[in-house]
Amino acid sequence: MEFLNSFLSLVLHIAFTAFLVVYLPLSLVWRLAAWLFVRPFTKEDLKGKAVLITGASSGIGEQLAYEYAKRGASIALVARRQHALNNVADEARKRGASDVLVLPADISKPEDAKRVVDETVARFGKLNHLVANAGIWCCCFFEEITNITAFTEIMDVNFWGAVYPTYYALPHLKASRGKIIANTSVAGRVPTANMSFYNASKAATIRFYETLRSEFGSAIHITILLPGYVESELTKGKALQKGGTIEINENARDVQIGPFPIGRTQTLATVAVDGACRGDKYVTWPSWYKPFHMIMCVAPEIINWFSHSFYVAKEGDPSSSLSKKVLVATGAKDFLYPPSLRSNNIKMEKNGGML
Ligand SMILES: NC(=O)c1ccc[n+]([C@@H]2O[C@H](COP(=O)([O-])OP(=O)(O)OC[C@H]3O[C@@H](n4cnc5c(N)ncnc54)[C@H](OP(=O)(O)O)[C@@H]3O)[C@@H](O)[C@H]2O)c1
Repeated sequence: MEFLNSFLSLVLHIAFTAFLVVYLPLSLVWRLAAWLFVRPFTKEDLKGKAVLITGASSGIGEQLAYEYAKRGASIALVARRQHALNNVADEARKRGASDVLVLPADISKPEDAKRVVDETVARFGKLNHLVANAGIWCCCFFEEITNITAFTEIMDVNFWGAVYPTYYALPHLKASRGKIIANTSVAGRVPTANMSFYNASKAATIRFYETLRSEFGSAIHITILLPGYVESELTKGKALQKGGTIEINENARDVQIGPFPIGRTQTLATVAVDGACRGDKYVTWPSWYKPFHMIMCVAPEIINWFSHSFYVAKEGDPSSSLSKKVLVATGAKDFLYPPSLRSNNIKMEKNGGML
């Protein structure tokens, strides 16, 4: 047994060296050629295609809805806030959507996920793209949490809220040789302090879809979207708080985002839909986040050291973290945060409730 282990270890080390010396350079040449000569000419025409978007009442999902609308798709909009969805639907029609369906639902519930898929297919007769986008944020230290059981909601929405619609959409996506666009996050690859459950939910979602890729082969294409910080209700500070309620906490947001620039969601939506139509496997935007993925692969200790030094305040009070100090000292908020994030107004339901 000991001999077999040593033998296998030797063989695999030799295979890995061959991979580095032979496969990697050849695959880089192949990828460069595909990027230059194939990618620009393979773009799906979305006119009349049926698209279901979860989390379409605000932020990234709303902008994705407008992007699909502009390209003439029929879109089903899913979220819990019906009033906000109706407004997004009106705007999507103005921007050129073939047809728009509003489907209020809690996507973390399997019966709601099944219903929205069934109603979409009943109305449009098919499903070409499923955009699993709905999500919630949290930014507090693990040891600060006073209501730990409330944090299952992060997995319920971010992970299961993607799994359920994917499960019910499968036969329809197979029939159309369709696509799944899974909105995850850079946080699923780069584990910054203060967001343990959010990072875990996004890492789980990335691995889930990477596994499905091996199971589906070419039957269903999967684009994993990895955004960095962009303008939305989430970056206004809407998040699950340490006590277990969803509230807006601008100070916690400032500590978390610090002096990092916040991107335009409209641009992200264009880049994401372009990437999905071209059949890209991953879309990271803003692109300056890409090196973080690589550092995480080869030197995770640098990410851990930076994250600890930047977010964990020596005095124990998160407001005195280095991230907040740099934000205040440089006045970066005035030029790196878009104007929409300087107010904490979010879309309320008619009864004034915040979900
Ligand atoms: N903004 C960023 O910087 C950023 C960066 C990386 C990744 N992301 C990811 O992008 C996705 C969209 O977030 P966002 O930034 O656009 O924030 P957002 O404006 O708060 O949008 C979140 C969307 O998810 C919906 N949602 C939440 N819980 C739901 C539930 N149980 N059932 C159905 N819909 C639900 C919300 O609608 P209702 O409240 O009406 O249900 C809303 O439409 C999330 O997955 C987030 O993790 C965001």
